[in-house]
Amino acid sequence: MENLSQAQSLEMSINDPDAFWGDAARLIHWYRPYDSVLNSSNKPFYRWFEGGVLNTCYNALDLHVEQGRGEQTALIYDSPVTDTKKQYTYTELTEYTAKFAGVLSDLGVTKGDRVVIYMPMIPEAVVAMLACARIGAIHSVVFGGFAGEELAKRIIDAKPKVVVSASCGIEGKRIIEYKPLLDEAIKISPHKPQSCVIYQRPQATSELIDGRDYDWQTVHEKSQAVDPVPVKATDPLYILYTSGTTGTPKGVLRDNGGHAVALKWSMESIYGLKPGEVFWAASDVGWVVGHSYIVYAPLLNGSTTIVYEGKPVGTPDAGAFWRVIDEYDVSVMFTAPTAIRAIKREDFNGEFVKKYPMKKFRALFLAGERCDPDTLEWVSNLLHIPVIDHWWQTETGWAIAANCLGIEQLPIKSGSPTQAVPGYKVEVLDEQGDQKPAGELGSIAIKLPLPPGTLTTLWQNDDRYVSSYLSDYEGYYLTGDAGYIDSDGYIWVMGRTDDVINVAGHRLSTGRMEECISEHPHVAECAVVGVADKLKGQSPLGLVVLKSGVEQDHEEIVKELVQLVRSKVGAVAAFKQAAIVSTLPKTRSGKVLRGTIRNIADGDEVMVPPTIDDRSSLDVVTKALATLGYPQDA
Ligand code: COA
Ligand code: AMP
Repeated sequence: MENLSQAQSLEMSINDPDAFWGDAARLIHWYRPYDSVLNSSNKPFYRWFEGGVLNTCYNALDLHVEQGRGEQTALIYDSPVTDTKKQYTYTELTEYTAKFAGVLSDLGVTKGDRVVIYMPMIPEAVVAMLACARIGAIHSVVFGGFAGEELAKRIIDAKPKVVVSASCGIEGKRIIEYKPLLDEAIKISPHKPQSCVIYQRPQATSELIDGRDYDWQTVHEKSQAVDPVPVKATDPLYILYTSGTTGTPKGVLRDNGGHAVALKWSMESIYGLKPGEVFWAASDVGWVVGHSYIVYAPLLNGSTTIVYEGKPVGTPDAGAFWRVIDEYDVSVMFTAPTAIRAIKREDFNGEFVKKYPMKKFRALFLAGERCDPDTLEWVSNLLHIPVIDHWWQTETGWAIAANCLGIEQLPIKSGSPTQAVPGYKVEVLDEQGDQKPAGELGSIAIKLPLPPGTLTTLWQNDDRYVSSYLSDYEGYYLTGDAGYIDSDGYIWVMGRTDDVINVAGHRLSTGRMEECISEHPHVAECAVVGVADKLKGQSPLGLVVLKSGVEQDHEEIVKELVQLVRSKVGAVAAFKQAAIVSTLPKTRSGKVLRGTIRNIADGDEVMVPPTIDDRSSLDVVTKALATLGYPQDA
């Protein structure tokens, strides 16, 4: 497939997926070859590489040792918050993982069992994930910034046999104890895991419950390494819960075979990264970016990955990213636009960049939220390398649209994540499901089948998978994003069509925040919307109607609501602003006009549907938002 353009590769992947992905699958080690590349016999449940047998952990670790990469660094741990630096070769990471797989086996975990991983950014988080893959267990990693109640929801749904956690995480200078959150979650959940393995960190040690909790170091020392267990290509590798419109997160399910093939392919084709080179995704293992590009893809590719426990700014300064890139000879980096905006805010003139030569650094990829052209241009001018905005979702697990550096470098248009990546037939549809002409805004959908490595369903919930993603337009996957495709085939992703918001690259549900607020005894109803935020892209804002007769001070109530969301969803929700109003704008049928509220807050043209019930509610909202400083530039 040499010398094909991105558009030609895309065409080939759509017209002949068997040939395209069959070719990519040759780079993966199979214990047993697959019978078919794509099985479309049970639509809309497509299956990739059916009949194939492999092990993802073997492909990510042992295989490289066998092929002579044993002494190459597989993982670099850099933690400015604990002042720790550590490196693991492929041999060391394989041995560590094989022994931890032994721990899980000793605790009775076998193929198909679930293991919830609630960990900070330490190498043991990666080891725990790979150890699950090694024995065919299904991991479900929960982001450390989520509170006990959110963790509980995931434990209830996934029903893990074991939970792997740590005594604490470190956020800048703050120590966040994880164990009390885990204990709270297990208390809430009717499903109780049989055991918990706790990695004790020196910054805070937790008390272990006899008979249930095990100290990581102790059990690890005693255990024996175990070999990879062959699993079917179609067996699940992991569940990753993501925010949807409702408060119940969706358990995105990923298989083994398609995932390994797609991620290995993506490393060279999208990111242009060769085995042996260093790749750094400055994200968190709790998010999809961390799953795919801290853990699986770089290791499947025989590259070196970095686990960075720090922030773009403040740990210790706005040169943190450039220091890491320089120190470890990073070739390609991946982060969220928010991180770049945070650096830009503190070091607009790029003084820190001058300190670090970053000789190997050749491309920066951004994703997780829309990248505003200002940020893209600022960082491009600063680094003098291609800065590539690319678009994807937890559900797809890898990029839907990108400038595929390993195929060809297309001209960059700021504000667009470029063109569809091979595997994805992206279309913009109107309400009837007809294709919109070039340049016209609509709902972005992907024609089925989705390529390998994307979600196969939602964990034990085929119905929700179909109703959430596949039922709006027959034969299409609904991305939940709105946008358009221009006459050059560039995709422009403008925002979500549902109640999902992206705060600092973290995907959150406003519906979930509304649920929390509604639990306050004084609240009659509320609406939470994502308003534009100069640093975080979006931030949540609540408008709250109180029950009649409430006399408590409004400021106090708002403080309680902020605390309520923080304690139930977690600090990561960043819910900090709310106003009490006498009424909310609604349609005659009672639907809250969240889009209209957002328009007013952002100072955009206010779209008011003709079905609005009471126009005076708009004045109420406008006044309340003004008290919070919205629109910001007014
Ligand atoms: N564990 C516990 N708490 C966490 C956490 C974790 N893993 N991650 C974030 N939090 C907390 C933060 O400490 C903060 O708490 P606070 O309200 O008490 O200050 C809160 O959650 C909100 O976090 P965040 O939105 O990240 O804001 P911030 O001010 O701490 O940092 C940035 C701002 C821009 C530096 C930071 O958001 C960032 O690095 N963003 C990049 C995002 C990213 O990599 N996304 C992954 C997708 S690619
Ligand atoms: P997540 O599942 O957390 O990766 O969030 C996915 C959502 O983030 C997408 O549906 C988009 O709304 C948004 N998103 C991610 N990357 C981009 C991008 N490059 N441009 C615009 N929006 C993006």
